[in-house]
This record gives sequence, structure tokens and C-alpha cells, in this order.
Amino acid sequence: MKVGIDRIRFYTPRWYVDMAKLAKARHEEPGKYLIGIGQSKQAVIPNTQDAVTMAANAADQIINDNNRDQIDLVLFGTESGIDNSKSAAIYLQHLLQLRADIQSVELKQACYAMTAGIQLAKDHVLAHPASKVLVVGSDIARYGLHTAGEPTQGGGAVAMIISADPKILAIEEPSAHYTADIMDFWRPLYATEAVVDGKYSSQEYIDFFDRTLTEYQTKTKSSLADLQAVIFHLPYTKMGLKALKSVLNRTDERHANQLLREFEYSRIFSREVGNLYTGSLYLSLLSLLVNSENLKSGQKIGLFSYGSGAEGEFYVATLQTNFQTAIESGSIKKVLEDREELSISEYETMFNSQMPLTNDNFVTNDKLDSAKFYLAGQKDQQRLYRRREV
Ligand code: HMG
Repeated sequence: MKVGIDRIRFYTPRWYVDMAKLAKARHEEPGKYLIGIGQSKQAVIPNTQDAVTMAANAADQIINDNNRDQIDLVLFGTESGIDNSKSAAIYLQHLLQLRADIQSVELKQACYAMTAGIQLAKDHVLAHPASKVLVVGSDIARYGLHTAGEPTQGGGAVAMIISADPKILAIEEPSAHYTADIMDFWRPLYATEAVVDGKYSSQEYIDFFDRTLTEYQTKTKSSLADLQAVIFHLPYTKMGLKALKSVLNRTDERHANQLLREFEYSRIFSREVGNLYTGSLYLSLLSLLVNSENLKSGQKIGLFSYGSGAEGEFYVATLQTNFQTAIESGSIKKVLEDREELSISEYETMFNSQMPLTNDNFVTNDKLDSAKFYLAGQKDQQRLYRRREV
């Protein structure tokens, strides 16, 4: 039985900052951010959106009256959790009006958690072929103003339905994993911004890619030449390019150029949004599927997932018949087209207006945000989630 991605959509809030202007404001050459880091725009997250509302705004696009009652498991990957105890998946289950007799769980392992969710979902469907699983990855990537990590911020959510006989991508066996206890990036409980050793994290990312790809090729006796494209978790788009270039000597020149060409399609959306943490690899997937003109059903795509701390996984998935129709390109492009640019000072104000992690009541700027799901504030230590009828 084939199991994989049946539907997939993406959400990022309406605001962005232009990276050439941010570079100028930080007294850097624009080329450093545009080429050296590989980012053109960066999503700015208002205080009306958090991991839960962004996930709801993504998932709402793929849930309808036909599939709502078939969903029996919600797996929510995030490292921007809003509670140390209660799962973000429960808020999501409620906002999306899913059935009550289902399982809803939050998963954490930095940017890797959505991939973990997809693999767990696949095994769940193999055991229960009629079931559909909602898997989401939703995060806000924050390093702080005037930090080295600032040009690699971003945020948003990707939601997908994993089912039998998927319309878009069938996930193949096996995967290759590598886990090691390293301190390249983490976020202590008291912090809203990540602590990062940027250069070390970038080296480890490449090392984990090398190890998992090699392990995958050994296990499956396959070669890079079997893949139409290799796509990556993109903390910044140059990172994926560096990783890809590090293995191109494993294939011939013609195929190396093909992989480089497909990689360019896969980074178009991330260039415009920045790091999505858990959802990032799957934004690369959307970008490839929407923008590449070379894809055909039956072709295989390699996916590299990396979550700091760290865990890496390399796996392969096969494009299904009519995947182009199922992808709904127009709606995905529209999320990015319908955005507004902020000036640098507007971005800094929005960045600094996040709801504080205290027990005080708080009211967000909800008049600004027209998204269907939003955070109205906090009262009596409870987050106030709202669903707007649109
Ligand atoms: P930095 O030190 O400011 O940048 O931080 P740099 O000086 O290394 O420059 C960056 C690149 O720009 C270099 O290219 C320069 O040569 C180039 P490279 O040597 O890397 O190929 N450059 C220029 N290019 C063209 N024109 C110019 C120019 N000037 C310079 N004029 C760093 C960069 C990425 C380290 C920083 O932004 C950072 O710490 N980011 C956060 C950490 C990160 O994203 N790590 C990635 C791997 S870890 C990961 O993926 C997991 C993560 O998503 C978290 C999770 O799992 O939850 C982060």
C-alpha cells in the first residue's frame, strides 16, 4: 500500500521586510544577505499569530467536510510551543472543529519534528488504512534584532494530510537517521530567542547530510543519479546549496547540473519567507512542486531533514500521477503575493510587540490582522484564540 502526502498547504502572515534594506540598516553589504545568506524577504510575525494560529490558518485550507471526519490523529511539530504542558495540537483540534474521539499530540525535536510526525503518521496509516492524519509544522524563527542570526529569521506553517493512496507524494522505505547530542542551537525555557553557534551549526548540518545520505545509499544500494531532485531544510537558502554542492562529486556533471537547477526551484519560496523551522523542508517541497517544469509522476525526490541538537533524516518520496493538479499552485503563490512590506522601523516595532511570557493580561493588535485564526490576547493566564467567519 502506498502512503504519503495527499494534500499540503502553507501559511505565513501578511508582513515582510526587504533583505537589501535590512542589510543597509545593519551596515552590511546587501550582497551578504541576498547572495551570501540567500534571502530576499523575511516574514515578520505579528503578536496576533503564534504557532497555533499559523497552524490553523495552514490546516484550514486542506480540511473540508469530506475529510474532517476521517482525521483520527493530529501531530503538531513545533519548537515555538505556547505551553510547557498542554499540547498545541489540542488547541488546533478545537479551532478546526475536528472530531473529539481522536489523538492530538505535540512533537519536539527542533526543525526535525514535522518529519518525525510524517513518519509516525505513515506508520499509523499502514496500521489503519482508512485513517487520515493531519501533520503540521508551525514556528517563529527568532534570534533578535542586530544579531548574526537576524537575516535567518522568518516564520509560518505547513500542514498536510497523510493518507493511503496519496495524490501528491508516496513516502518510500527506508529512511536513514543520525542523532548526536550537540549544542549547535537551542532555546532555554527562559528565552524567546534561540541561542546559536551559527558557524558550528552550519558545519554540523553538512556533516549530518553526508552521514544520512551515505547511510541511505548503503542501505538501499542506490545512487544520487536515481533522484530527480534533492531538497533540504532551509534555515537560509545558501545552507541547502552548500550541502548539495558537498555531494555533487557523487554523480556525473549532467546530473549534478540537473540537481542544481531543481534546487533553485526548491528555494524560491524560502527566499521570500526565511526559516520556518519545522515547516521549512516542506516549504522547499512546495516550492519545487509549484515552480519546477521538469517534474513527472514516478520520479523520486530526496528529502533531507535537520533539527539542531541534533537529528538528521534522509528519505525518498515518489511523485504520484496528477500531483500537479493536487498541489493547487495558485492558492500557494497567492499567500506570498498578498503581502505588505514593512519599513525597518515598522518591522522592529512588530518584532518587539510579542505577547510577553508573563501572567499579565494582554490585548493584541487584532484589528491589523485579517487572518481567519488569530490570537486576541491573554486573560487569566489563558491564550484567547479566535476564529473569524470569512
Ligand atoms: P555571519 O557570521 O554574519 O555571516 O552569520 P558570514 O560572515 O559567515 O557570511 C555569510 C556568507 O555571506 C558567507 O558565505 C560570506 O562569504 C558571504 P559562505 O562562506 O558561508 O559561503 N558574504 C557575501 N556574499 C556576497 N556578497 C557579499 C558578501 N559578504 C559576505 N558582499 C550565519 C551567518 C548563517 C552563521 C548566521 O546568520 C546564523 O548564525 N544563523 C542562524 C543559525 C543557522 O541558521 N544555522 C544553520 C544550520 S542549523 C539548522 O539548520 C537548524 C535551525 O533551523 C534550527 C532548528 O533546527 O531548530 C537553525
